[in-house]
Amino acid sequence: MTPVSIDLALQRCIEPDCGARFGLNEQLYVCPHCGGLLEIENETNALPDAEALRRLWQSRLASSDETDRSGVWRYRELLPFSNSAPIVSLAEGNTPLYDAPRAARYCGLNALQLKHQGCNPTGSFKDTGMTTAVTQARILGARTVVCASTGNTAASLAAYAARARLKCAIVVPRGQVSHAKLAQSLDYGGIVLEIDGNFDDAMRIIRELAEDESIYLVNSINPFRIEGQKTVAAELLQQGAWEVPDHVVVPGGNLGNSAAFGKGFRELFELGVVDRVPRLHVIQAEGAAPLAELFARREQNSTADDLSETLIPVKHPQTLATAIKIGAPVSWKKALRGVTETGGRVSSVSEQEIADAKAIIGRDGIGCEPASATTVAGIRRLVNDGVIDGGENVVAVLTGHLLKDADYIIKYHQDNLYTHDRAANRSKEERRIVGTFSNAPARVKATRTAILQHLESQDQNRDFEDRSFD
Ligand code: F0G
Repeated sequence: MTPVSIDLALQRCIEPDCGARFGLNEQLYVCPHCGGLLEIENETNALPDAEALRRLWQSRLASSDETDRSGVWRYRELLPFSNSAPIVSLAEGNTPLYDAPRAARYCGLNALQLKHQGCNPTGSFKDTGMTTAVTQARILGARTVVCASTGNTAASLAAYAARARLKCAIVVPRGQVSHAKLAQSLDYGGIVLEIDGNFDDAMRIIRELAEDESIYLVNSINPFRIEGQKTVAAELLQQGAWEVPDHVVVPGGNLGNSAAFGKGFRELFELGVVDRVPRLHVIQAEGAAPLAELFARREQNSTADDLSETLIPVKHPQTLATAIKIGAPVSWKKALRGVTETGGRVSSVSEQEIADAKAIIGRDGIGCEPASATTVAGIRRLVNDGVIDGGENVVAVLTGHLLKDADYIIKYHQDNLYTHDRAANRSKEERRIVGTFSNAPARVKATRTAILQHLESQDQNRDFEDRSFD
């Protein structure tokens, strides 16, 4: 194992007017001076040069060492941990980068690749950050770890806390977490606390809880989460033989993931591992799109470089993509920096667009949960708007596994999916999501003839290939 010098890594406030620095072992989530978000600043002087780093990471792909085999710890030169860190791992990362020809055609692209973070051990991208956050919890000697969650962070934390034998408390909005995610948290032994309120209320409560030093908060406000998640940028680029895609597109909820991609690309560029970065685009659901609204406001006022304008939270966020039903995203400043630096955009898509894009991703044999499908829906819009050219290289990041929300899928395919926004007094028909690409089960007689007759009447492939998406 190559020794890594991390002696000078520290935590730094991201606010330009503050920039206060703190040691790695100080248990902080925001800057005690100004309340700004913190990020890890790694010392890179002792690192091998870019070519040596690429070779090292490549060689670890053939290693049988557990640390090398983790798709996060393989890139440990980028992480603020020493060689003796008590790593808590479930062999996270190593997720596939798929070609998705049908989704590409749907978007108006020649080709599209899908980085499927839903293939992580607990079925979502959260595992790549949870391995580092729970490792840090161990280093700090924490006894209890907590998070607020729309379901995936909870499932991931419950699993990693079980591995580390830590007490784990999870605060979730009651009735707004999919059964699959809840089932995971219960099975992994997490203490699940359901509150009346939404994710933003849960987040507020656990920030209060974390004032107690015995409790360690591992939402993505915790900079050690972002460190693990940023390694996905390296894994993605390595899978493409360090050919940098033109665009990388991620869903936006609490905005930790977009922040992590921004940091990952920035650091790889600064290390000279790549000679440019992709444009980073964030896509939110229309009913929970405070960053998209801020981005649009800034464009209208031509204040694109003015970072002073602030995010206006959405009080009652609404979307069936419950993973990203968030009105006051914590990491918006970090996310916006990544988008701005790379010339990306923040947009939003409708419930109908999300549902259709999700079904299309399924038709490539891949599938994902609703929040992840914002990416393909968003890319289709960006191509239509001329932001992405049909011949460019585009990667969409799928964040959660298809089985994370089976109820949604069954309803879509049975043409029985409705949005919840009753407050707007919309009729049931107006709230209906059309099953544009629905594939309902057929009820047939239990005879050979009936089944053969039904098969004869169906040709899904031709149906799909003949379809015009204009
Ligand atoms: N996709 C999925 C499947 C998610 O679970 C989340 C966030 C996101 C996208 C958005 O990522 O918050 O980093 O912008 N889920 C969190 C949770 C909030 O509690 O599981 P983000």
